[in-house]
Amino acid sequence: MKEIGIGLIGAWGLRGELAAYGPQNREGVKIVGAADIYDASLEAFLEHYGQDCYTTKDYRELLSRKDVNAVFILSPDFMHEEHAIAALAAGKSVYLEKPLATTIEGCERILNAAYKTGSKLYLGHNMRYFPAILKMKELIDAGTIGEVQAIWCRHFVSYGGDAYFKDWHSERANTTGLLLQKGAHDIDVIHWLAGGYSRQVVGMGKLSVYNRCKDTRPEDHITKVTFSDENWPPLSQKGMSPKIDVEDHSMVMMTLNNGVQASYTQCHYTPDGFRNYTVIGTEGRLENIGDHGNCTIEVHTTRQFTKKDPDQIHQLFPVEGSHGGADPEIVKGFIDFIRDGVKPNTNPIAAREAVAAGVAATESLRENCSAKIVPELDPKLISYFENGQK
Ligand SMILES: NC(=O)c1ccc[n+]([C@@H]2O[C@H](COP(=O)([O-])OP(=O)(O)OC[C@H]3O[C@@H](n4cnc5c(N)ncnc54)[C@H](O)[C@@H]3O)[C@@H](O)[C@H]2O)c1
Repeated sequence: MKEIGIGLIGAWGLRGELAAYGPQNREGVKIVGAADIYDASLEAFLEHYGQDCYTTKDYRELLSRKDVNAVFILSPDFMHEEHAIAALAAGKSVYLEKPLATTIEGCERILNAAYKTGSKLYLGHNMRYFPAILKMKELIDAGTIGEVQAIWCRHFVSYGGDAYFKDWHSERANTTGLLLQKGAHDIDVIHWLAGGYSRQVVGMGKLSVYNRCKDTRPEDHITKVTFSDENWPPLSQKGMSPKIDVEDHSMVMMTLNNGVQASYTQCHYTPDGFRNYTVIGTEGRLENIGDHGNCTIEVHTTRQFTKKDPDQIHQLFPVEGSHGGADPEIVKGFIDFIRDGVKPNTNPIAAREAVAAGVAATESLRENCSAKIVPELDPKLISYFENGQK
């Protein structure tokens, strides 16, 4: 059995605990050390993972260590490209948080680096391990609703004001926009459920609420995100980023390469937080009510003139682990992929396609809702990643 030594780039942010699922769920896996530019993050990392772990402020030093053969890149989106390319070039297997990068060109530079070096690249699209998404995929693949024709996703982000408008997420320069930053998850799920990728998009959205909050944090104060239901209503939010130029609600319509049409709508100031996917096929429709914990998948396959009870209700129950039990599973998937070549649910091509659609949709919404073509990826890269990076 191959021993796996894990290094983290981005030592202790919101995703800092993710890597712990490696040693917890697979033998021969160890957390070796971390790199981060902030002392506080490195200190918190040592407290959690043990004082004998290695730490550095220079990620290149972490990458030069022989006892690190896998790297979790948990840094902010705008650093993914630099960190991932360096880790791949150093011969490390890479677990890269979503989104792959903040630009289409950045994605392609990362994919090319993986192709040229042969180092393994794995994407943290953990929604592909959410029990509710897996159940919908299973029902769709079994033909329960016939051929998928249309998908709508409504995404209510009740914690948006806490999580995205007080730190680096609030600036276009760091994320491109939240339709990409947050929406990469859902665009990817839509692509997965539909079995295709967006080729044309039209976006719409604006910044309409959080730009009106009066209380702003100082420029040099680094905010550690915390969540509180007391931060309500949204206009009462305090400690907002001094610069907010990303949209707080947005929507996109997508035409996929297999003819499926889809829409995704995202709002960061709703009182409740969940995603509702509605998938409509030639023989029915299904939707999720709740997206983790106790939630249901409702399936309608008979007709009635008005609102009706579902023909099938699939009850799902809470699963242990963060993100509705998806995080332990996606980390197991990473270890199994790099150790034994087991095909994971996620893949770098799909991650690139989610970013490409998100970037094009963001351009569209900022350019008067003009329709945008999503550029195709180099076929050489498609076949490399579709063949399991061999
Ligand atoms: N898959 C998911 O469900 C999910 C959930 C949340 C975040 N994310 C993704 O995870 C990544 C991290 O998000 P987060 O919310 O944990 O961010 P965060 O800001 O809470 O943490 C980022 C970490 O990186 C460190 N850091 C900042 N700049 C750095 C740099 N230049 N070099 C090295 N380290 C640096 C910070 O000190 C911190 O430890 C993002 O890409 C985000 O999109 C994914």
